[in-house]
Amino acid sequence: MSVTPKKRENYKPLLWTPINILLDFQIYKNYTFVTSNILFEKNDQNNIKNFTLESSIELNGIDLETINLQVSLDNKPFYNIDIKIIFINDELISISIPKDAVQVRILSKVKLYPSDNSSLEGLYESNQMLCTQCEPEGFRKITWFPDRPDCLSIFKVKIEAPLSFNTMLSNGNLIDEGILKDCNDKPIRHFKIWNDPFPKPSYLFALVVGNLEVTVSNFTTSSNKKINLQIYTEIGNKHLTGHAMNSLKKAMDWDERKYGLEYDLECFMIVAVSHFNMGAMENKGLNIFNSKFILADLNCATDFDLQNIEAIVAHEYFHNWTGNRVTCRDWFQLTLKEGLTVFRDQEFSAEMNDIGVKRIEDVRLLRSIQFPEDAGSNKHPIRPDEYLEINNFYTPTVYEKGAEVIRMIYNYLGEKLYRKGMDVYFDMFDGKAVTCEDFLKALELGSNLDLDLFKKWYTQVGTPKLNITRVAHNDKITLNLSQTINEYKSCLPIPIAISLIDKKGDLVQFSINNLKLQYEHIFLLSKSNDKVEISGHKDIVIPSLLRRFSAPVNIKTDLTISEYLHILRHDNDPFNKWEAIQNLYLSCVINEENISSITSILNYFLSEKIISSSLLAYLLELPSKNALENLYNVSDPIDVYNTRRNLIKKIALSLQNIFEKTVSRLINDDIKRSNQMGKRLLLGKILNYLVLIDSKIGIQLAENISVSDNMTLSSIGLKSLCQGDSKNSIKHLNNFYLKWEGNSLVLEKWFEMMSTLNVDGEGVNFIKKLLFHQAFDYKNPNKLRSVLGSFQRENILLFHANDSSGYNFVSEQIILIDLKNPQAAARLILPLTRFNNYSELRKEKMKQALHKIYKKNNLSSDLSEIIAKALK
Ligand code: PHE
Ligand code: ZN
Repeated sequence: MSVTPKKRENYKPLLWTPINILLDFQIYKNYTFVTSNILFEKNDQNNIKNFTLESSIELNGIDLETINLQVSLDNKPFYNIDIKIIFINDELISISIPKDAVQVRILSKVKLYPSDNSSLEGLYESNQMLCTQCEPEGFRKITWFPDRPDCLSIFKVKIEAPLSFNTMLSNGNLIDEGILKDCNDKPIRHFKIWNDPFPKPSYLFALVVGNLEVTVSNFTTSSNKKINLQIYTEIGNKHLTGHAMNSLKKAMDWDERKYGLEYDLECFMIVAVSHFNMGAMENKGLNIFNSKFILADLNCATDFDLQNIEAIVAHEYFHNWTGNRVTCRDWFQLTLKEGLTVFRDQEFSAEMNDIGVKRIEDVRLLRSIQFPEDAGSNKHPIRPDEYLEINNFYTPTVYEKGAEVIRMIYNYLGEKLYRKGMDVYFDMFDGKAVTCEDFLKALELGSNLDLDLFKKWYTQVGTPKLNITRVAHNDKITLNLSQTINEYKSCLPIPIAISLIDKKGDLVQFSINNLKLQYEHIFLLSKSNDKVEISGHKDIVIPSLLRRFSAPVNIKTDLTISEYLHILRHDNDPFNKWEAIQNLYLSCVINEENISSITSILNYFLSEKIISSSLLAYLLELPSKNALENLYNVSDPIDVYNTRRNLIKKIALSLQNIFEKTVSRLINDDIKRSNQMGKRLLLGKILNYLVLIDSKIGIQLAENISVSDNMTLSSIGLKSLCQGDSKNSIKHLNNFYLKWEGNSLVLEKWFEMMSTLNVDGEGVNFIKKLLFHQAFDYKNPNKLRSVLGSFQRENILLFHANDSSGYNFVSEQIILIDLKNPQAAARLILPLTRFNNYSELRKEKMKQALHKIYKKNNLSSDLSEIIAKALK
């Protein structure tokens, strides 16, 4: 375990770079031989004077059983020469190269045991299939190599395996294949050779060997190239790839229309695997996916699953340009590819679905996971300055906040100039490994605008607080704006979209600081305090501020309850409607009398059907636990849970009538059709309310649909039942289990729901038993998340039980998981580190559970980095 952090400022380019690499995989039942032959040349980007001294080549390798390692200089034959190969530690070797050498070749042979590799990094086995995961530093578990993103090589890969594997894939194009026979001329093994013409860093390497099924289709690009599309799955799942395939085609089309970017190889392959630490991986031409984000139909996947699949398939596809063709110089620059690609997939999904609702969903996610991270022990800028374990930096901050930063820049430049900037980005940096500064430089060149101010967003930690108050004069309003981060003044550039709504509810034109009349103005606040003057409007108006959530900040205003009600009723920005009701709900915690004015508007929306079902569904959703916790300086998760539940009950009681009418209406309305997603979302939200107040109609309906052949309906039925009596929930969950026994992906939903239950007299034992259930698989991160993730997120009363039994249960499990899969352990521990807002007593309990883990020997660097920060 390395204890000295890596620092961004210490970046040094390589003196020798690998130009091309030949990889030869000999696959056997229990082991694999990997032979690599790497050609290094002097890095021509470097000043030649670096080479007047003797230089060296450093190679990374982890858990490699090295059979041999040879070096050759300038095409002389390989020999176990006097060249010094120094083992710096067991994960790094250094080879010193004489100063007059021009070319270096390094040949190595290692033996791997993929079925013993439970880290799901490097080459590993998942249900008899061999696959790889190399980002960020997994390639060093496959062969000796300078495993860093700034050296790009041409990969040629030979795979040889027994005939029992029908599929052997790697990146690029297939250039040769053949069969090997034994001495009796009987075929025994076969091989394929793949060549990827695009130089790439090692983290984009991939290999898959298995006995698989393939779905084939094609896409014709705008320049008339016909691309072969293939989705590989375990046998028996082929019929579940249609939605992913359609999503892929939509993504390919969108990238051509929006960015002018075409696909660049002959074929694009996706492989779905059962065991995967993350969502999916963008390996060049050969994306590898968590099967959860590929396999789906209306019968076994929910609407939410289908939307996730569309978004993730697109995300990985978009990486082909933002990530692969232009890649990161070092891992500190991760947001260069991730923030940008998330922004791209968000815009894609918005266009494919509903723009306003998508924005609400994205902001919900940001607030519920990124804001807490930015206020907790694992906080870091979107571009971190240092880390111990890079795996811990695939975070909501790097991804989601990173995307918000791109979105602000996009809004600042406008669509046209942004596109010009992006064109320059690809022109300048195609085939290169670059930094966030390079990205901003390209946007500046393309747009002719200065983006210097925005650099602050790359270095600043924390969520800014934006405060806006008004002073009204006769026909003018002055807005006083100020920004702080953790009580300190800050001066980030914060674009604030502003409109005015009049008494009738219409937007009116106005002028800001005497500029031209507009319906919406985007003011860029870049000082810690500023004033703007609004004029040119008539009548009394209410400002609609930070429309579409134009910046990732916490906003506080002097808007009154009745003004929020007006915004909720009339604003044409769906996000600000939602934001208004969130504020109104929060106000009810302090003053319950506000409930009736909210429910009367909801009643109106429900009966008049003037807004879309999906928007209405989100308006019915109360602020997250985190939002409620933030109301207090010291809060308690159990109090917050109870407060929230009481509020939900009160709202449900006051709307019971219209709720019951609405669900009955929705159910009749060919609710199963694929284009009725909004109605299903609304139905689910209302059923949650109804079950909580024991509505007969609600419970009956939930029970009926819990056995539907439409997975969305079935799961909203069950989830709402889980809000009620636990014995009854178990009965229905049992039926669900029996129906889906044998379908591992669907059973993840079952585990997830079971883990939210609080069964009388059983407490956390009920959850423990799930880990010994025959359908549970300790090696599968999806299963771990379905139980431990869902338990910590949803089962508030048990997780936060005063006797610490919830905390102890989690910490015991994390210790076991860490032995097998450090990345999974380091993610699953995060909820136990979120105690900043809690009382000293609760903090102590949570810390004790962390201490118990921390004092174990042999903790992974992943887990110990997270815990050390939390305990500091
Ligand atoms: N690069 C992947 C993505 O964002 C995520 C990932 C990271 C997957 C590390 C596996 C390992 O699309
Ligand atoms: Zn990504």
